[in-house]
Amino acid sequence: MIRETDLLYFQNWFEMYVRQFCTGIEKIDSALCLKVKHTKNVVIEILDIANALNLDAEQCYCAQIVAIFHDIGRFEQYIRYGTYSDQKSEDHATIGLNVITRTGVLGRLAHYEQELIKNVVTHHNRASLPRTDDQNFLFFLKLLRDADKIDILRVVTEHYAGYNSNDAINIGLPDSPEISATIADCIMNGRLADVNDMRTLNDFKLLQVGWVYDINFPRTYQIFKQRKYLETLSDVLPQTGTVIQTIASAQRFLSKKVSEEINVHE
Ligand SMILES: [Fe+2]
Repeated sequence: MIRETDLLYFQNWFEMYVRQFCTGIEKIDSALCLKVKHTKNVVIEILDIANALNLDAEQCYCAQIVAIFHDIGRFEQYIRYGTYSDQKSEDHATIGLNVITRTGVLGRLAHYEQELIKNVVTHHNRASLPRTDDQNFLFFLKLLRDADKIDILRVVTEHYAGYNSNDAINIGLPDSPEISATIADCIMNGRLADVNDMRTLNDFKLLQVGWVYDINFPRTYQIFKQRKYLETLSDVLPQTGTVIQTIASAQRFLSKKVSEEINVHE
């Protein structure tokens, strides 16, 4: 059984844990701050989705705990490699699992709950959902992936709009005009693009457009639409035929999903 005191304990643990990474060097500390803020926002977003689904208190605590730990590997990753690019360093979910195991932070929870949280953290950034019979694990993983995407899109769209100039966000991709055909093709066909095919910053932006095809809950579709994420991404992409077509299909898909949900509730 997960209680509110567990959630409070983990929130406090997170604050203490991240504090040790402060260097006093502005470039590093501001990059780390991005991930502290991201984690706190994912906690807020996951609770929003959980509330829309009328989850009970224990499920809400569990959802918030997976959000607290999902990017716990980011701090070691940045200090060790100076980048948030998993391709150029190490998979941050694996580093995260290692931190959780090494520190024994989940020790106050039952074995099943510990395994659940560790599994969700390990799989949160995979290209697609794993095949599994564990419906509870799958459910929390879906919640986390939706909440994570919502906040990553806040970070990157603020960055593209010039509100947040931290270079760590671009994961070191060149801001050149090309778009890789493999990425465009995947997204145009409603498939998830592979991060390993990214060559330019435009590929990264287009890949984020494609996230609309990897949403699990109605509330997330609603948020994508309300916050105009597709429009914002479109504004910062070159208006080539491929881009216009890709964004138009993504927008049609999103509108359909949002109106389907409205119809269900009418
Ligand atoms: Fe992550």
